[in-house]
Amino acid sequence: MTNKYMYFIANWKMYGDLKTINTLDKVIKFSKSKEINKGRLIYCPPYTLISSFLKKLKNCQIDIGGQNCHESENYGAHTGFINSNMLKNIGANYVIIGHSENRKKGENDKLINLKIKSALNAKLKVIFCIGETLTEKRKKKTRLVLSKQIKAGLNKIKNKSNIFIAYEPVWSIGTGVVPKSKNLLKIVKFIKNKFKNKSPKILYGGSVNSKNINELKEIPDIDGFLIGGASQKTKNFIDIVKKTYS
Ligand code: PGA
Repeated sequence: MTNKYMYFIANWKMYGDLKTINTLDKVIKFSKSKEINKGRLIYCPPYTLISSFLKKLKNCQIDIGGQNCHESENYGAHTGFINSNMLKNIGANYVIIGHSENRKKGENDKLINLKIKSALNAKLKVIFCIGETLTEKRKKKTRLVLSKQIKAGLNKIKNKSNIFIAYEPVWSIGTGVVPKSKNLLKIVKFIKNKFKNKSPKILYGGSVNSKNINELKEIPDIDGFLIGGASQKTKNFIDIVKKTYS
């Protein structure tokens, strides 16, 4: 059983519609129960649902985040994008940046660094995703890749108090495969050690579910989880939180 303050971040990706909002009722009730007094729930729905989520979650402790943002803090001619100030303005407090699904589409470390800076300027908390691909893991390049992503992504960012690092091995996302505990423990420690005495909070993401949570929660340096698939079903999401604290 853990007594730690933990973060449970639901990444809904490109899923959900107005009907889905009603599934939040159970989570709202749960968020007011004692079982969650040591944790924080954060939903990152698609942009189209943010304002409906905010309305629904008005009187509870559940926070909202965006799934990405543009690197510019200003308005501009960028069809299809939104920026960090727009997210803050609508009521979001978090944003996911550097997700591997976006890196795969061409977001590089430099762009990610600009996005993180713009999000911090907008007073958003940043969930900064890093992780190696299967090929990189097989070539034993995990540490090298993570070091590079951290160094470039956080370049010239001194104050890291509003940054969460989400370690998400690409081979684990949506596959049902999670790293072996002893390996994950080492990697999380490796990430933590990069920051001397003031490490950002570290999350794990990749196929987290209500079955493997019992093992994952035992890793001492993990401060929470970024949860994709399993967060879309309210029961699964609640079970993950409950099991973390049982
Ligand atoms: P998953 O996704 O839990 O479905 O593996 C996690 C993520 O991509 O953030």
